[in-house]
Amino acid sequence: MDKFVVSGGKRLKGSISVSGSKNGVLAIIPATILATGVYHITNTPNLRDVWTMSQLMNSMGAFCELNENSLFIDTRELNKFEAPYELVKKMRASIYVLGPLLARFGEAKVSLPGGCAWGPRPVDLHLKGMEKLGAEITIENGFINAKAKKLKGARFHFDVSSVGATGNMLMAAVLAEGTTLLTNAALEPEITALARFLVKMGAKIEGIGTTELEIQGVTSLNAVDEVAIPDRIEAATFLIAAAMTKGEIELKNVNPYHLSSVLAKLEDSGSEIDVNGDTIYLKQDEDPKPIDFTTSVYPGLPTDLQAQWVAYMMATKGMSKVTDTIYTDRFKHIPELQRLGADIKMVDNVAIINGGKSLSGATLMSSDLRGSVALVLAGLISEGSTEVLRIYHLDRGYEKIEDKFAKLGATIKRVKTELI
Ligand code: EPZ
Repeated sequence: MDKFVVSGGKRLKGSISVSGSKNGVLAIIPATILATGVYHITNTPNLRDVWTMSQLMNSMGAFCELNENSLFIDTRELNKFEAPYELVKKMRASIYVLGPLLARFGEAKVSLPGGCAWGPRPVDLHLKGMEKLGAEITIENGFINAKAKKLKGARFHFDVSSVGATGNMLMAAVLAEGTTLLTNAALEPEITALARFLVKMGAKIEGIGTTELEIQGVTSLNAVDEVAIPDRIEAATFLIAAAMTKGEIELKNVNPYHLSSVLAKLEDSGSEIDVNGDTIYLKQDEDPKPIDFTTSVYPGLPTDLQAQWVAYMMATKGMSKVTDTIYTDRFKHIPELQRLGADIKMVDNVAIINGGKSLSGATLMSSDLRGSVALVLAGLISEGSTEVLRIYHLDRGYEKIEDKFAKLGATIKRVKTELI
């Protein structure tokens, strides 16, 4: 496994291009199950999770090949409807194949994803939604077995706003008989992008970009090409890194509209931000101010930035609170950050940071994707060097991150390690 050795004390300065959205592409790839044909998905990030999703598609008879950032998908030979445990345990997003497999084959066998680093992540809404569309669901030996001669349109209300369940229901409903009305649907840009991709394939979806989606089922769809949307979480991660090192960066290939809530928070903490088309420019001259951060569903502050904001608040003099309302136990990074000398207390799902302490480099253990990048950010503002172990977590969601940081003047070395 690899580790990162991060040298502290550098101000980030420079310009980088942000990769395509991991979570956007992880929704688009399963959608190609819905129509037989050949697809080219460009601006695809070359990441471990995309390789895993491609492996899953290939295990079902499709042909998926990622060349740099172009993904070629051929679903003409797709003939299986099982997502095996070995692949699902590597990536929970594998559950996204449930809806499209049911829609295409009338059958699906998908391993239950199980928990993740920060606790249970239920899929009850996915299953309840499929049953509402007429599927018969049984759980046996850790597998979801779903059967439906023909999915029938229905009304379905999400008790909790769920990105994955909304995506699954959209992909199941587009080929169902009749009309489906989804209420309290997720608004995340990755879901809007999925809905637009389905419409491009010939689906009939009204209300895109709102929490009410009305889908008129059609009898067939066509294979089309697509360009993945920019990764808003990667973009925000670099903006936060620049702010906490009092740097000055330019980010290209971003969609600033996907980052409104985060840009406003960064300005509250003292960043000067300019937006021009698909470019964001951030400069942090003054000492950043401690600013509270509470996650919520889009267009609120993303839970996928909670860990990074905690690291940022360590660089500010004073008290701040970071609250995660989406995943109340997504705080595995806190004890690791405390090893650097950070003064952070946890009260339920609230991290209370007493920032401005002097931080000295240490060896830290990653346990999940966004937590691991927060450890790297904290290393940038710690004295000496910080080793971040198990960065395979990080490689799941950040393409060529050490090259991008190098372009911004940070020194992060990837070192192969035998053991951990
Ligand atoms: C997506 O996960 C993202 N993953 C996550 O990003 C992100 O953190 C999450 O949305 C929230 O924004 C992908 O897009 C591949 P949810 P998902 O269903 O779909 C509860 C990353 O770092 N819930 O929107 O699994 C759930 O417990 C990853 O890139 C149910 O109760 O998240 C949570 O509290 C991590 N029942 C809330 O909904 C269900 O059936 C939101 O979860 C499903 C979800």
